[in-house]
Amino acid sequence: MNLVLLGPPGGGKGTQAKRLQDKYGLLQLSTGDMLRAAVAAGSDVGKKAKAVMDAGQLVSDEIVIAIIDERLDQPNVAKGAIFDGFPRTVAQAEALDAMMAKKGKKLDFAIEIQVPDAYIVERITGRYTCAKCGAGYHDKFQLPKVAGKCDSCGGTEFARRPDDNVETVTKRLDAYHAQTAPLLPYYDKRGALKLVDGTMDIADVTKALEGILDAAR
Ligand code: AP5
Repeated sequence: MNLVLLGPPGGGKGTQAKRLQDKYGLLQLSTGDMLRAAVAAGSDVGKKAKAVMDAGQLVSDEIVIAIIDERLDQPNVAKGAIFDGFPRTVAQAEALDAMMAKKGKKLDFAIEIQVPDAYIVERITGRYTCAKCGAGYHDKFQLPKVAGKCDSCGGTEFARRPDDNVETVTKRLDAYHAQTAPLLPYYDKRGALKLVDGTMDIADVTKALEGILDAAR
């Protein structure tokens, strides 16, 4: 099974992809995580992407399509993928269709996690992750069970993303509405779009997503 998670920045795509991947044997493919790894490694792609990401704009289609194309050839994607943060433009969606067809794979559906803009600043400015294993947390909505200690690996160092600030969030939301929202009619026209209310608690959003995935198995 291969699916795309759509939704605004901070809408819960990464949180939900992590919760779904083990249960369904799927691999989360987050272009945001891949680009942040490239920035941290100081690679050519990372150097090109850094300023664009810090400004809350979209990295070029050419770069992200090449990254995904390479990842789709790796054996750990054989059972299927959860695309998180990709595609983000119609050109990327068309490229994904072409790549999947070429590799004998099929995209089953795209799910929009619907969250109004009014929720987003609080979601994003409160987000942090374990510096050791990357597990995600939130100052208010997703606290570790023991304060200051990661539930997954016991790590005690945490990190916040440089683009998780109020000014950049506004630009990321603008980019979402202008460049990514046109993907909703793109997938709807082919009967592949499903909708989930992303304002529910994290566990309830997971249940709604599981309902869609279970029905498709
Ligand atoms: P990316 O990393 O993809 O960022 P994004 O789309 O802005 O999405 P986020 O990762 O910020 O949010 P999310 O939906 O995963 O939310 P999360 O689950 O963490 O991209 C970063 C940048 O890279 C882009 O700006 C761009 O420059 C570049 N880029 C990446 N992909 C690209 C592409 N394809 N093309 C071009 N450029 C690309 O949740 C947020 C917080 O809310 C968490 O703390 C969580 O605990 C909490 N939360 C989640 N769900 C709930 C809930 N239901 N209730 C309460 N709190 C919740």
